[in-house]
Amino acid sequence: MKHTVVFKVDAENPAVEPIQKAAAIIRAGGLVAFPTETVYGLGADAMNADAVLALFEAKKRPLDNPPIVHVARTEDLYKLTEQVSPKAEKLIQAFWPGPLTLVFPRSQDVPEVTVAGLDTVAVRMPKHAVALALIRESHCAIAAPSANLAGKPSPTTAQHVLSDLNGRIDIILDGGATRIGVESTVLDVSVDLPMLLRPGGTPLEALQKVVGEVKLHPFITAEAELPAEKARSPGMKHKHYAPKAPVVLVEGSMAAVMRQVKELTSALWLENKRVGVLATDETAWAYEADVVKSLGSRRHVDAMAANLFRLLREFDEENVDAIIAEGVPTEGLGLAVMNRLRKASGYTILRVG
Ligand code: TXA
Ligand code: MG
Repeated sequence: MKHTVVFKVDAENPAVEPIQKAAAIIRAGGLVAFPTETVYGLGADAMNADAVLALFEAKKRPLDNPPIVHVARTEDLYKLTEQVSPKAEKLIQAFWPGPLTLVFPRSQDVPEVTVAGLDTVAVRMPKHAVALALIRESHCAIAAPSANLAGKPSPTTAQHVLSDLNGRIDIILDGGATRIGVESTVLDVSVDLPMLLRPGGTPLEALQKVVGEVKLHPFITAEAELPAEKARSPGMKHKHYAPKAPVVLVEGSMAAVMRQVKELTSALWLENKRVGVLATDETAWAYEADVVKSLGSRRHVDAMAANLFRLLREFDEENVDAIIAEGVPTEGLGLAVMNRLRKASGYTILRVG
């Protein structure tokens, strides 16, 4: 059991001292949780195999699911890969620092454990002063998966990190709530036609504007779980984002969804279940479940993304027996929100009119 220390830091202008302390921990092979613009990450020296192994253990993460390696300068990318295609360069130019992770053929210098034995490495440059300062001060690339216990929703506040990882990590840099609220977009640029492996903070439409055609991995559009051998990104086949209570996702036109949510609530009440509904501003007023929470307005997908993981965690505290979630529009960050909701439901999806 470690003693986890929390340091408050200013998100825009972090003080030097906590950053130096955290960097010293990273250099010594320890574990530091830190804010990024997407979600909190749990960092370790990417080139230190023992430290990365400890990272997997702290999160209880399966060893076949590699973390993202974070850099603070483009030069540092070339220590991780020797193959940056012209398309990848364009994407870096357009989106780094920012919520876009790119998958490259990996250099042999990257430890096996950091890439979970794959021949590729996922890299991103976060757009957050605390994350960038920590990476610079550590003088190494930082491997950082989201700072949650495996299977749980990603943390968007230091409090979320603490509730999952207290006693399992060394330091949490508390820079307040993260801005975007869903993880980075993961795009494979180790192949000719870039392939979207995980929708996230950089919208698909923005990628298409810069590189033209982007292939969608079948998992992204999947309405049901695909067999694990089709996974291209190891994270696809693991349980994710799940609150304690089972989630049913209802997708379709707003009117049909509302009818279905009401019917489901009544059916669950007959079984004496305590029912939670994850609704939207446009629909929440109409429901009479035990707990009704709104993701925000359907017209503001960015705000829905920012609220999603916090609300999923809040349902755990409400001790509901079942959660009924509404599908959301899939433009912009909506694609990432819908992808997380589908995963949270374990693909228990009802499609209505
Ligand atoms: O926004 C984010 O990306 C956050 C913050 C902390 O930067 N990080 C994050 O990391 O979400 P994580 O480990 O929770 O998710 C990384 C995803 C997983 O789905 C993993 O399978 C995938 O990236 N991944 C990592 N390395 C890969 C590789 N070489 N090829 C394909 N997918 C990879
Ligand atoms: Mg994660």
